[in-house]
Amino acid sequence: MEKIAIAIDGPASSGKSTVAKLLAKEFHFIYVDTGAMYRAVTYLAIQHKVPFDQEDCLVQLIKKYPISFEQTGNGQLVFVNSQDVTEAIRQADVTSAVSEVSAHGKVREQLVRIQQELAQSGGVVMDGRDIGTTVLPDAEVKIFLVASVEERAQRRYKENLSKGMKADFDSIKEAIAQRDYLDSHRTVSPLVQAEDAVKIDTTGLTIDQVVAKIQAVILAKGFEIT
Ligand code: CDP
Ligand code: CDP
Repeated sequence: MEKIAIAIDGPASSGKSTVAKLLAKEFHFIYVDTGAMYRAVTYLAIQHKVPFDQEDCLVQLIKKYPISFEQTGNGQLVFVNSQDVTEAIRQADVTSAVSEVSAHGKVREQLVRIQQELAQSGGVVMDGRDIGTTVLPDAEVKIFLVASVEERAQRRYKENLSKGMKADFDSIKEAIAQRDYLDSHRTVSPLVQAEDAVKIDTTGLTIDQVVAKIQAVILAKGFEIT
């Protein structure tokens, strides 16, 4: 498989990371979960009691505590300053604050630079909100995943239950809708479909069906899947 870049964007729980991991595994590409990076900064802010509106202090945290990934068979582990925060960054306190932290232009500047470095050699599947528009505007394949808010909340609800986490459907749905709103309405790099992205509505589709649709897009663009 040619070492292309595949950008997968979309709102919360549209299935980005699940399908991105599967595609990366299939093609032996690296997988970069950019949401995990914004979550890691938010986690650091909570740990170090930095208020979420203090942009310059948040940037200092990124500079002081390097964020890194370790690829595993099924995805990746996330580290800040060599501490494994893979689980901690998925907790509710991080989720509820991450959209405020990620709205800062200087925070985004720092993380986008790291993301672009990670993608430098190609052979990458990267998921987030602004990959096709800002991080990798020249990505060979751009996908924009969507699904109804009802279905996305249902998916997150089931996921939380399966992990033994607290789950209340209505509050999950409300939190997702609020994050969608904040992510789509911020001034810097809002969540928006790139003009040349292919939109896939995943409502009612299984993970395998979504992967098959993306493979069809890759083939239609003339890349061989081997
Ligand atoms: O997995 P989930 O959809 O819950 O979110 P995520 O991909 O982990 O992203 C968490 C948050 O990070 C998003 O709600 C955005 O506020 C922010 N984010 C962003 O601003 N830009 C990205 N490229 C990725 C995530
Ligand atoms: O990365 P993002 O927040 O866009 O979504 P995800 O974490 O990949 O998917 C959220 C949940 O939905 C996971 O538990 C997936 O297994 C599930 N999912 C699904 O049931 N059907 C799909 N077509 C895609 C994801």
